[in-house]
Amino acid sequence: MQLPQQLQESIENRLLNQSIHQISEASSCLSEKYRQGVKNDGYVQTNQERMAYILSRMPATYASIVTVFKELRDRMPSFNPKSFFDLGSGPGTGLWAADTVFPNLIQYSAWEIDDEFNKLSALLTEEHLVLKNTIRKRKNLELDRDFFSADLVLLSYAIGEIPSQYWESIFSDIWKNVNHSLVIVEPGTPIGYERILKIRDILLRQDAHLIAPCPHSSKCPLQKPDWCHFYARVERSALHRKIKNASLNYEDEKFSYLVFSKHPIEKNINARILRYPQVLKGHTKLITCDKSQIIQNLTITKKEKEKYKLAKKKDWGDSF
Ligand SMILES: C[S@@+](CC[C@H](N)C(=O)[O-])C[C@H]1O[C@@H](n2cnc3c(N)ncnc32)[C@H](O)[C@@H]1O
Repeated sequence: MQLPQQLQESIENRLLNQSIHQISEASSCLSEKYRQGVKNDGYVQTNQERMAYILSRMPATYASIVTVFKELRDRMPSFNPKSFFDLGSGPGTGLWAADTVFPNLIQYSAWEIDDEFNKLSALLTEEHLVLKNTIRKRKNLELDRDFFSADLVLLSYAIGEIPSQYWESIFSDIWKNVNHSLVIVEPGTPIGYERILKIRDILLRQDAHLIAPCPHSSKCPLQKPDWCHFYARVERSALHRKIKNASLNYEDEKFSYLVFSKHPIEKNINARILRYPQVLKGHTKLITCDKSQIIQNLTITKKEKEKYKLAKKKDWGDSF
């Protein structure tokens, strides 16, 4: 997956006024801060770090949000959102992802604590027919709760920057303003997954319908040190490779996520694939989490004709 061409062009033509070398250094520094959890007043603090985020992280967070939105669309085919609300929106990654998957959206709102990010987000959407009208506000989710209501609400890679003592009340207030669905995306790390488990509990206590990724709403059956996470393949542009000092022309962004809805799931699944399938000679191996909350190690052989054909087409994160 790649960023939309219009966004990529806006980044290269409108924002790229600093040296690639400096941005590349800021990108390494930012990755280190995220790795160590050294936050201070926020992870992204300087203009170079904001640029580093846009150039090195935005393609990956965009890819994971698009993947999750597509899963929501598959599970709730009648969902046709008109309004979208991105909380902790940073440079507006979620706005572009929502526009990609739900092109009938007409009303966009974005809250972000860092006003410099809001300005960059506005600059990037200046020429987009719909996104240019996004209502952006500088808001601190720890304090500000005068949420708009929206059909689709997103928190992507944001809740981990807010102390967990606020989560119960934040999600309770957000949930009241969700008309249809709420999506939460976090890094696909053990810490990201732990956050996802806590948020899963909070929302299930609000009687939210869990749409994805779990095929059930019971306790997660995964045992430590395993954790539930998925991936999105991101094509790296030449610029992206330069910033990251990388030679491979793609990277796999790992993420954990939740989709909740006010409505029951429309297209249920039997199981979710939890790892890259192993396609071997004459058989395919899958690890799945199924409806009865069991982690299954499946070996599907050629003898099971239809199932085998199906299994060969499946990927990590798909339903089965
Ligand atoms: C890792 S970035 C994610 C940006 C974007 N959602 C994405 O997926 O690319 C986290 C964002 O959350 C914002 N943030 C952190 N604490 C916040 C708070 N208390 N209120 C609002 N935004 C916050 C940060 O400023 C940052 O822009």
